[in-house]
Amino acid sequence: MLGNLKPQAPDKILALMGEYKADTRQGKIDLGVGVYKDPTGLTPVMRAVKAAEQKIWESQDTKAYTGLAGTEEYRDAMASMVLGGVAGDRIASVGTVGGTGAIRQGLELVRMANPDAVIHVSDPTWPNHLSILKFMGQQFVEYPYFDNDTRGVAFEAMLEGLGKAKQGDVVLLHGCCHNPTGANPTAEQWDAVAASLEKTGAIPMIDLAYQGFGDGLDADAAATRMIAERLPEVLIAASCSKNFGIYRERTGILMALTADNKAREMSQGAMAYLNRQTYSFPPDHGARIVSTILTDEALSADWKAELEEVRLTMLGLRTQLAEELRSLSGTDKFDFIADHRGMFSRLGATPEQVARMKEDSAIYMVGDSRLNIAGLNKDSVPVLARAIVEAGV
Ligand code: LMR
Repeated sequence: MLGNLKPQAPDKILALMGEYKADTRQGKIDLGVGVYKDPTGLTPVMRAVKAAEQKIWESQDTKAYTGLAGTEEYRDAMASMVLGGVAGDRIASVGTVGGTGAIRQGLELVRMANPDAVIHVSDPTWPNHLSILKFMGQQFVEYPYFDNDTRGVAFEAMLEGLGKAKQGDVVLLHGCCHNPTGANPTAEQWDAVAASLEKTGAIPMIDLAYQGFGDGLDADAAATRMIAERLPEVLIAASCSKNFGIYRERTGILMALTADNKAREMSQGAMAYLNRQTYSFPPDHGARIVSTILTDEALSADWKAELEEVRLTMLGLRTQLAEELRSLSGTDKFDFIADHRGMFSRLGATPEQVARMKEDSAIYMVGDSRLNIAGLNKDSVPVLARAIVEAGV
Protein backbone atom coordinates (compact mmCIF):
# COMPACT_ATOMS: atom_id res chain seq x y z
CA MET A 1 0.00 0.00 0.00
CA LEU A 2 2.63 2.52 1.03
CA GLY A 3 4.44 1.89 -2.22
CA ASN A 4 1.51 3.61 -3.94
CA LEU A 5 2.44 6.96 -2.42
CA LYS A 6 3.51 9.67 -4.84
CA PRO A 7 6.33 12.12 -4.14
CA GLN A 8 5.09 15.40 -2.69
CA ALA A 9 6.24 18.73 -4.05
CA PRO A 10 8.68 20.14 -1.48
CA ASP A 11 7.64 23.28 0.43
CA LYS A 12 9.66 25.96 -1.32
CA ILE A 13 10.59 27.82 1.87
CA LEU A 14 11.75 24.69 3.68
CA ALA A 15 13.55 23.36 0.58
CA LEU A 16 15.54 26.59 0.45
CA MET A 17 16.67 26.00 4.05
CA GLY A 18 18.21 22.70 2.93
CA GLU A 19 19.90 24.26 -0.11
CA TYR A 20 21.41 26.99 2.03
CA LYS A 21 22.77 24.46 4.54
CA ALA A 22 24.40 22.46 1.73
CA ASP A 23 26.15 25.53 0.25
CA THR A 24 29.81 25.52 1.36
CA ARG A 25 30.66 29.05 0.20
CA GLN A 26 32.06 31.48 2.78
CA GLY A 27 29.90 34.53 3.43
CA LYS A 28 26.65 32.96 2.20
CA ILE A 29 23.55 34.91 3.26
CA ASP A 30 20.28 33.26 4.29
CA LEU A 31 17.26 35.48 3.62
CA GLY A 32 14.87 32.54 3.27
CA VAL A 33 12.80 31.08 6.08
CA GLY A 34 11.08 33.54 8.42
CA VAL A 35 13.21 33.18 11.53
CA TYR A 36 14.62 36.16 13.40
CA LYS A 37 18.39 36.30 13.66
CA ASP A 38 20.38 38.74 15.76
CA PRO A 39 23.37 40.60 14.24
CA THR A 40 25.61 37.59 15.00
CA GLY A 41 23.32 35.23 13.06
CA LEU A 42 21.85 33.53 16.14
CA THR A 43 18.14 32.98 16.76
CA PRO A 44 18.31 33.66 20.48
CA VAL A 45 16.13 32.33 23.27
CA MET A 46 14.60 35.53 24.67
CA ARG A 47 15.54 36.48 28.25
CA ALA A 48 11.98 36.32 29.53
CA VAL A 49 11.51 32.90 27.93
CA LYS A 50 14.56 31.53 29.76
CA ALA A 51 13.33 33.04 33.03
CA ALA A 52 9.82 31.64 32.51
CA GLU A 53 11.24 28.20 31.75
CA GLN A 54 13.21 28.29 34.98
CA LYS A 55 10.12 29.35 36.91
CA ILE A 56 8.12 26.52 35.34
CA TRP A 57 10.89 23.98 36.05
CA GLU A 58 10.98 25.03 39.68
CA SER A 59 7.24 25.08 40.30
CA GLN A 60 5.74 22.46 37.97
CA ASP A 61 4.83 19.30 39.87
CA THR A 62 2.90 17.41 37.18
CA LYS A 63 2.78 16.96 33.46
CA ALA A 64 -0.67 15.39 33.46
CA TYR A 65 -3.04 16.39 30.66
CA THR A 66 -4.45 19.93 30.67
CA GLY A 67 -7.67 20.27 28.62
CA LEU A 68 -8.56 19.90 24.96
CA ALA A 69 -8.52 23.68 24.61
CA GLY A 70 -5.25 24.11 26.53
CA THR A 71 -5.13 26.11 29.76
CA GLU A 72 -7.42 29.03 30.53
CA GLU A 73 -4.43 31.12 31.68
CA TYR A 74 -2.86 30.85 28.23
CA ARG A 75 -6.06 31.53 26.33
CA ASP A 76 -6.98 34.53 28.50
CA ALA A 77 -3.48 35.97 28.27
CA MET A 78 -3.47 35.59 24.49
CA ALA A 79 -6.95 37.08 24.14
CA SER A 80 -5.80 40.13 26.02
CA MET A 81 -2.52 40.44 24.09
CA VAL A 82 -4.26 40.13 20.72
CA LEU A 83 -7.58 41.83 21.38
CA GLY A 84 -6.66 44.22 24.21
CA GLY A 85 -10.02 43.78 25.95
CA VAL A 86 -12.15 43.98 22.80
CA ALA A 87 -14.91 41.35 22.37
CA GLY A 88 -14.17 39.84 25.82
CA ASP A 89 -17.41 37.89 26.18
CA ARG A 90 -17.61 36.76 22.54
CA ILE A 91 -14.45 34.66 22.41
CA ALA A 92 -14.24 30.90 21.99
CA SER A 93 -10.64 29.68 21.79
CA VAL A 94 -8.34 26.69 21.72
CA GLY A 95 -4.60 26.29 21.93
CA THR A 96 -3.13 24.89 18.71
CA VAL A 97 0.08 23.40 17.37
CA GLY A 98 1.63 26.71 16.31
CA GLY A 99 0.07 29.28 14.01
CA THR A 100 -0.10 26.69 11.23
CA GLY A 101 -2.23 24.50 13.51
CA ALA A 102 -4.50 27.46 14.17
CA ILE A 103 -4.95 28.05 10.44
CA ARG A 104 -5.69 24.40 9.81
CA GLN A 105 -8.15 24.08 12.72
CA GLY A 106 -9.80 27.36 11.67
CA LEU A 107 -10.33 26.05 8.16
CA GLU A 108 -11.66 22.77 9.55
CA LEU A 109 -14.10 24.77 11.67
CA VAL A 110 -15.26 26.68 8.60
CA ARG A 111 -15.73 23.41 6.74
CA MET A 112 -17.85 22.04 9.59
CA ALA A 113 -19.99 25.20 9.74
CA ASN A 114 -20.35 25.72 5.99
CA PRO A 115 -18.96 23.09 3.59
CA ASP A 116 -19.72 25.41 0.66
CA ALA A 117 -17.61 28.30 1.94
CA VAL A 118 -15.14 29.76 -0.55
CA ILE A 119 -11.93 30.99 1.05
CA HIS A 120 -10.61 34.26 -0.39
CA VAL A 121 -6.84 34.60 -0.10
CA SER A 122 -4.51 37.44 -1.03
CA ASP A 123 -2.44 37.08 -4.18
CA PRO A 124 0.26 36.44 -3.09
CA THR A 125 -0.03 34.83 0.31
CA TRP A 126 2.06 32.55 2.52
CA PRO A 127 2.55 29.49 0.26
CA ASN A 128 1.44 27.12 3.00
CA HIS A 129 -2.02 28.76 3.07
CA LEU A 130 -2.50 27.55 -0.49
CA SER A 131 -0.93 24.19 0.20
CA ILE A 132 -3.26 23.52 3.16
CA LEU A 133 -6.32 24.66 1.20
CA LYS A 134 -5.41 22.38 -1.70
CA PHE A 135 -4.72 19.44 0.60
CA MET A 136 -8.11 19.91 2.27
CA GLY A 137 -9.85 20.19 -1.09
CA GLN A 138 -11.26 23.50 0.11
CA GLN A 139 -12.58 25.89 -2.56
CA PHE A 140 -10.59 29.11 -2.73
CA VAL A 141 -10.08 32.15 -4.92
CA GLU A 142 -7.40 34.82 -4.84
CA TYR A 143 -8.00 38.53 -4.46
CA PRO A 144 -5.42 40.98 -5.88
CA TYR A 145 -3.12 42.40 -3.23
CA PHE A 146 0.31 43.48 -4.43
CA ASP A 147 1.21 46.15 -6.94
CA ASN A 148 4.47 45.01 -8.48
CA ASP A 149 5.24 48.50 -9.81
CA THR A 150 4.97 50.38 -6.52
CA ARG A 151 5.60 47.34 -4.32
CA GLY A 152 2.69 48.57 -2.23
CA VAL A 153 -0.85 47.28 -1.72
CA ALA A 154 -2.96 47.38 -4.90
CA PHE A 155 -5.79 48.65 -2.79
CA GLU A 156 -8.48 49.42 -5.35
CA ALA A 157 -8.06 46.01 -6.95
CA MET A 158 -7.99 44.38 -3.53
CA LEU A 159 -11.27 46.01 -2.55
CA GLU A 160 -12.86 45.03 -5.82
CA GLY A 161 -11.74 41.42 -5.22
CA LEU A 162 -13.07 41.41 -1.66
CA GLY A 163 -16.39 42.69 -2.98
CA LYS A 164 -16.85 39.38 -4.78
CA ALA A 165 -17.02 37.43 -1.52
CA LYS A 166 -20.45 36.17 -0.53
CA GLN A 167 -22.20 35.62 2.77
CA GLY A 168 -20.80 32.44 4.30
CA ASP A 169 -17.44 32.84 2.54
CA VAL A 170 -14.23 33.49 4.44
CA VAL A 171 -11.69 36.21 3.69
CA LEU A 172 -8.20 35.32 4.89
CA LEU A 173 -6.31 38.48 5.91
CA HIS A 174 -2.84 39.04 7.30
CA GLY A 175 -3.44 41.16 10.42
CA CYS A 176 -0.04 42.84 10.10
CA CYS A 177 3.36 42.33 8.43
CA HIS A 178 1.96 40.72 5.27
CA ASN A 179 3.83 37.54 4.34
CA PRO A 180 5.39 37.43 1.71
CA THR A 181 5.23 41.06 0.57
CA GLY A 182 5.77 43.28 3.65
CA ALA A 183 3.20 45.72 2.18
CA ASN A 184 0.25 46.50 4.46
CA PRO A 185 -2.99 48.47 4.22
CA THR A 186 -3.17 51.84 6.01
CA ALA A 187 -5.62 52.34 8.90
CA GLU A 188 -8.01 54.03 6.48
CA GLN A 189 -7.77 51.12 4.07
CA TRP A 190 -8.42 48.64 6.89
CA ASP A 191 -11.62 50.59 7.61
CA ALA A 192 -12.66 50.08 4.01
CA VAL A 193 -11.87 46.35 4.30
CA ALA A 194 -14.14 46.13 7.36
CA ALA A 195 -16.89 48.02 5.51
CA SER A 196 -16.59 45.59 2.60
CA LEU A 197 -16.93 42.62 4.98
CA GLU A 198 -19.97 44.24 6.58
CA LYS A 199 -21.49 44.63 3.16
CA THR A 200 -20.80 41.15 1.79
CA GLY A 201 -21.36 39.22 5.02
CA ALA A 202 -18.14 37.25 4.47
CA ILE A 203 -16.29 36.24 7.63
CA PRO A 204 -12.75 37.48 8.18
CA MET A 205 -10.10 34.99 9.23
CA ILE A 206 -7.08 36.92 10.44
CA ASP A 207 -3.65 35.33 10.40
CA LEU A 208 -1.58 37.13 13.05
CA ALA A 209 1.86 35.57 13.01
CA TYR A 210 4.06 38.65 13.46
CA GLN A 211 2.42 40.80 16.15
CA GLY A 212 5.14 43.10 17.51
CA PHE A 213 7.40 42.87 14.45
CA GLY A 214 5.87 45.76 12.51
CA ASP A 215 4.87 48.98 14.28
CA GLY A 216 4.63 47.64 17.85
CA LEU A 217 2.66 45.11 19.86
CA ASP A 218 -0.57 47.13 20.08
CA ALA A 219 -0.23 48.92 16.74
CA ASP A 220 0.12 45.56 14.97
CA ALA A 221 -3.14 44.36 16.53
CA ALA A 222 -5.07 47.55 15.73
CA ALA A 223 -6.67 46.26 12.51
CA THR A 224 -7.63 42.97 14.19
CA ARG A 225 -9.21 44.82 17.13
CA MET A 226 -11.12 47.20 14.87
CA ILE A 227 -12.48 44.28 12.83
CA ALA A 228 -13.32 42.39 16.03
CA GLU A 229 -15.36 45.36 17.22
CA ARG A 230 -17.22 45.85 13.97
CA LEU A 231 -17.90 42.35 12.63
CA PRO A 232 -20.21 39.87 14.35
CA GLU A 233 -18.08 36.81 13.55
CA VAL A 234 -14.30 36.77 13.25
CA LEU A 235 -11.72 33.98 13.26
CA ILE A 236 -8.20 34.73 14.46
CA ALA A 237 -5.20 32.43 14.09
CA ALA A 238 -2.33 33.78 16.17
CA SER A 239 1.20 32.46 16.54
CA CYS A 240 3.78 32.91 19.32
CA SER A 241 6.62 31.48 17.22
CA LYS A 242 8.06 34.80 16.16
CA ASN A 243 7.25 37.33 18.88
CA PHE A 244 8.30 34.98 21.68
CA GLY A 245 10.99 33.31 19.55
CA ILE A 246 9.66 29.86 20.50
CA TYR A 247 9.42 28.49 16.97
CA ARG A 248 9.99 24.81 17.79
CA GLU A 249 7.60 24.81 20.77
CA ARG A 250 4.67 25.09 18.34
CA THR A 251 2.53 27.59 20.23
CA GLY A 252 -0.55 29.08 18.63
CA ILE A 253 -4.19 29.84 19.29
CA LEU A 254 -7.40 29.83 17.32
CA MET A 255 -10.05 32.31 18.45
CA ALA A 256 -13.60 32.45 17.16
CA LEU A 257 -15.52 35.63 17.96
CA THR A 258 -19.22 34.99 17.77
CA ALA A 259 -22.40 37.03 17.62
CA ASP A 260 -24.17 35.36 20.56
CA ASN A 261 -23.63 33.03 23.44
CA LYS A 262 -25.08 29.97 21.75
CA ALA A 263 -22.70 30.30 18.80
CA ARG A 264 -19.82 30.83 21.24
CA GLU A 265 -20.64 27.61 23.08
CA MET A 266 -21.04 25.68 19.81
CA SER A 267 -17.73 27.06 18.51
CA GLN A 268 -15.93 26.20 21.74
CA GLY A 269 -17.27 22.65 21.60
CA ALA A 270 -16.46 22.24 17.91
CA MET A 271 -12.92 23.54 18.29
CA ALA A 272 -12.21 21.23 21.27
CA TYR A 273 -13.65 18.37 19.20
CA LEU A 274 -11.34 19.27 16.31
CA ASN A 275 -8.33 19.25 18.61
CA ARG A 276 -9.37 15.81 19.89
CA GLN A 277 -9.65 14.44 16.35
CA THR A 278 -6.28 15.81 15.34
CA TYR A 279 -3.89 15.63 18.31
CA SER A 280 -6.02 15.60 21.47
CA PHE A 281 -4.33 18.17 23.71
CA PRO A 282 -2.38 21.10 22.31
CA PRO A 283 1.29 21.32 23.37
CA ASP A 284 1.65 22.86 26.81
CA HIS A 285 5.26 23.92 27.28
CA GLY A 286 5.28 26.89 24.91
CA ALA A 287 1.81 27.98 25.99
CA ARG A 288 2.93 27.86 29.62
CA ILE A 289 5.99 29.97 28.83
CA VAL A 290 3.73 32.55 27.20
CA SER A 291 1.18 32.66 30.01
CA THR A 292 3.95 32.78 32.63
CA ILE A 293 5.43 35.82 30.89
CA LEU A 294 2.19 37.63 30.19
CA THR A 295 0.86 37.24 33.74
CA ASP A 296 4.08 38.41 35.41
CA GLU A 297 4.66 42.16 35.32
CA ALA A 298 8.45 42.06 35.39
CA LEU A 299 8.78 39.23 32.84
CA SER A 300 6.24 40.88 30.60
CA ALA A 301 8.08 44.21 30.70
CA ASP A 302 11.38 42.51 29.90
CA TRP A 303 9.86 40.52 27.05
CA LYS A 304 8.29 43.66 25.56
CA ALA A 305 11.62 45.50 25.81
CA GLU A 306 13.47 42.69 23.99
CA LEU A 307 10.74 42.38 21.36
CA GLU A 308 11.03 46.10 20.76
CA GLU A 309 14.81 45.75 20.28
CA VAL A 310 14.14 43.04 17.69
CA ARG A 311 11.61 45.22 15.89
CA LEU A 312 13.91 48.25 15.87
CA THR A 313 16.83 46.16 14.63
CA MET A 314 14.76 45.07 11.64
CA LEU A 315 13.61 48.64 10.98
CA GLY A 316 17.22 49.83 11.11
CA LEU A 317 18.22 47.20 8.54
CA ARG A 318 15.34 48.29 6.31
CA THR A 319 16.50 51.90 6.40
CA GLN A 320 20.13 50.94 5.80
CA LEU A 321 19.24 48.73 2.82
CA ALA A 322 16.97 51.36 1.26
CA GLU A 323 19.69 54.01 1.64
CA GLU A 324 22.39 51.73 0.28
CA LEU A 325 20.24 50.94 -2.75
CA ARG A 326 19.41 54.59 -3.26
CA SER A 327 23.08 55.49 -3.51
CA LEU A 328 24.12 52.45 -5.59
CA SER A 329 21.23 52.62 -8.06
CA GLY A 330 20.91 56.40 -8.13
CA THR A 331 17.11 56.05 -7.86
CA ASP A 332 14.54 56.00 -5.09
CA LYS A 333 12.81 52.92 -6.50
CA PHE A 334 13.86 50.77 -3.55
CA ASP A 335 12.51 53.15 -0.89
CA PHE A 336 9.58 50.77 -0.42
CA ILE A 337 11.91 48.54 1.61
CA ALA A 338 11.92 51.16 4.38
CA ASP A 339 8.12 51.49 4.20
CA HIS A 340 7.38 47.78 4.37
CA ARG A 341 6.83 46.24 7.79
CA GLY A 342 7.59 42.92 9.45
CA MET A 343 10.18 40.35 8.58
CA PHE A 344 9.70 40.27 4.84
CA SER A 345 9.84 42.43 1.75
CA ARG A 346 9.06 41.31 -1.73
CA LEU A 347 11.73 42.81 -3.89
CA GLY A 348 9.89 42.45 -7.19
CA ALA A 349 12.83 40.63 -8.84
CA THR A 350 12.31 38.00 -11.54
CA PRO A 351 13.05 34.32 -10.77
CA GLU A 352 16.14 34.64 -13.02
CA GLN A 353 17.42 37.59 -11.00
CA VAL A 354 16.81 35.67 -7.76
CA ALA A 355 18.72 32.69 -9.19
CA ARG A 356 21.56 34.96 -10.27
CA MET A 357 21.94 36.40 -6.76
CA LYS A 358 22.13 32.86 -5.43
CA GLU A 359 24.68 31.71 -8.00
CA ASP A 360 26.91 34.79 -8.05
CA SER A 361 26.69 35.98 -4.46
CA ALA A 362 25.39 33.01 -2.40
CA ILE A 363 22.36 35.05 -1.38
CA TYR A 364 19.32 32.89 -0.66
CA MET A 365 15.83 34.37 -0.91
CA VAL A 366 12.52 32.72 -1.81
CA GLY A 367 11.96 32.39 -5.58
CA ASP A 368 9.26 35.07 -5.61
CA SER A 369 11.98 37.49 -4.33
CA ARG A 370 10.75 37.54 -0.73
CA LEU A 371 13.64 38.40 1.50
CA ASN A 372 13.85 37.98 5.25
CA ILE A 373 15.16 41.31 6.52
CA ALA A 374 16.15 39.70 9.81
CA GLY A 375 18.64 37.48 7.98
CA LEU A 376 20.76 40.58 7.32
CA ASN A 377 23.24 42.49 9.46
CA LYS A 378 25.11 45.77 9.01
CA ASP A 379 27.89 44.05 7.05
CA SER A 380 25.73 41.96 4.74
CA VAL A 381 23.40 44.84 3.76
CA PRO A 382 25.96 46.38 1.32
CA VAL A 383 26.68 42.93 -0.15
CA LEU A 384 22.97 42.39 -0.81
CA ALA A 385 22.50 45.90 -2.20
CA ARG A 386 25.33 45.38 -4.67
CA ALA A 387 23.97 41.98 -5.72
CA ILE A 388 20.49 43.46 -6.28
CA VAL A 389 21.85 46.21 -8.51
CA GLU A 390 24.20 43.84 -10.36
CA ALA A 391 21.34 41.42 -11.02
CA GLY A 392 19.52 44.33 -12.71
CA VAL A 393 16.49 44.38 -10.37
C1 LMR B 1 7.92 31.69 6.72
O1 LMR B 1 7.01 32.14 6.01
O2 LMR B 1 9.09 31.63 6.34
C2 LMR B 1 7.60 31.19 8.10
O3 LMR B 1 6.26 31.39 8.39
C3 LMR B 1 8.06 29.82 8.35
C4 LMR B 1 7.24 28.80 7.63
O4 LMR B 1 6.77 27.88 8.30
O5 LMR B 1 7.07 28.89 6.40
